[in-house]
Amino acid sequence: MTDIHTHTLYGLDDGSESFEMSLKMLSMASKGGTKNIILTPHCNIPGGYLNYMNSTIAGRFEKLKDAAKEFVPDINLYLGMEVYASNDIPELIRRGMAITLNRSRYLLVEFNFEESPLYVFKVLQNIQKAGIVPVLAHPERYAFVQQEPYIVHDLIRAGIIIQINRGSILGKFGSQPKAAADYLLKHSMVHIVASDGHRSYSRAPILYDAYAEVEKHYGKEYADMLFKKNPQNILLDKDPAFLKVKLRHGKEF
Ligand SMILES: [Fe+2]
Repeated sequence: MTDIHTHTLYGLDDGSESFEMSLKMLSMASKGGTKNIILTPHCNIPGGYLNYMNSTIAGRFEKLKDAAKEFVPDINLYLGMEVYASNDIPELIRRGMAITLNRSRYLLVEFNFEESPLYVFKVLQNIQKAGIVPVLAHPERYAFVQQEPYIVHDLIRAGIIIQINRGSILGKFGSQPKAAADYLLKHSMVHIVASDGHRSYSRAPILYDAYAEVEKHYGKEYADMLFKKNPQNILLDKDPAFLKVKLRHGKEF
């Protein structure tokens, strides 16, 4: 499996607290069957974490990658960021302050949970105009999606990649995100499931339990698409055509 959304790089945000915890998290992910993992620290949360690309981030990534080669050899590490929605995202990318997922065309973007759908569409379109493909992080956690989950269909038609969280599928964020995640899964409105793993002791960076849940309810082909094929395509910067959501009725959109 490939996990495109984790807070496994230490000391930057509300994710891993230390180098040792990062190694432990990588070990947990590897034991759970994750072969590739993208480290996506929060980049620009207003009044919160500011992690614009710099030598500290690059240095910690290289240090962790070297250690993982020795202690967790079955997992491959890649770098990305989780970028908070703002109108200056194209500028942040152009200046190298924010980076895409493994330097591909795909950018992981998050919003305030109470954001309006109009603003979400506007910000995502602005990113697309700059030639970047937005990957929308955990829409099932946003109020407007919980109220009107079918709106995600419009996002997909507009070319947005939809990533939901392992924890939502397992009911770890409560009933509303779980109901929204179930709706999106049932109606084939999900491209990718990621862990959004934060720490070794909470919101673990693992996928196998959510994979089992999706496989049980929707079958192996669908689970493989969401946990393996589509995230792998992101990692390899493959054409979005490979990311088509396959409707259960045999149609695609
Ligand atoms: Fe996240």
